Amino acid sequence: MTVLDSALDLTALPRHIAVIMDGNGRWASARGLPRHDGHIAGADSVEDVIQSCGDLGIEYLTLYAFSSENWKRPAVEVDAIMALLAHFLAEKAETLIRDNIRLRVIGNLERIPPETRELLEDTISLTAGNTRLTLIVALGYGAREEIVEATRNLMEKARMGELAPADLDQETFARHLFTVGIPDPDLLIRTSGECRISNFLLWQISYTEIVISEVLWPDFRREHLEAAIVEYQHRHRRYGGL
Ligand code: IPE
Ligand code: IPE
Ligand code: MG
Repeated sequence: MTVLDSALDLTALPRHIAVIMDGNGRWASARGLPRHDGHIAGADSVEDVIQSCGDLGIEYLTLYAFSSENWKRPAVEVDAIMALLAHFLAEKAETLIRDNIRLRVIGNLERIPPETRELLEDTISLTAGNTRLTLIVALGYGAREEIVEATRNLMEKARMGELAPADLDQETFARHLFTVGIPDPDLLIRTSGECRISNFLLWQISYTEIVISEVLWPDFRREHLEAAIVEYQHRHRRYGGL
């Protein structure tokens, strides 16, 4: 057992960990490599963190893989990320099934290439009954878009007479978000030292504990995840009370 293991309280783990996986480009630039190589290296971190969360008994892991704003990047980088995603899914679907991991996706998939979308849908249905860890991939995801979409659906229900505006409450609103049925994250980790949210889960992180890790995503491994959990375990969550 490492020193870190002994510091980790396995009886007080976060139920839901969300990660803004940032720093792939800087990792590659620091090595004189194209940004694409940073994304390839980042896939190993994804695998390690999924495995670690499964081993630890974390119930939900949300990974921010591609934001609604990331479509602004040069086509060559976007295409490389999409190809990598398709490759990852094709290769890891069996592992998800074997490891009893359920896959979900949040975000707007309209611009995701059809073959990748199909792979995603297949893997989601193949793993729908799995019970160990729920892996939520945020893809083409933007929190503002999610909130506007939820509001549009609610307005439509009101227009149809299915919901009275006076009856709208937080629970009803939350049921119209992509994250319906998923508890809010307890811990949000952002790698690469950036201290911003970048349009991620704005509604859901109201009382989430935020840990910024200086480690660039391609270098992020189980020890860094555990260090973030230990930091979380030293926080006192007050929710506005005492
Ligand atoms: C995160 O790494 C991956 C995505 C946003 C898709 P970046 O590509 O943002 O890497 P940096 O921030 O430029 O180093
Ligand atoms: C946030 O990272 C999105 C993902 C990690 C997928 P970005 O690198 O896109 O965020 P900004 O541009 O630095 O805010
Ligand atoms: Mg970045």
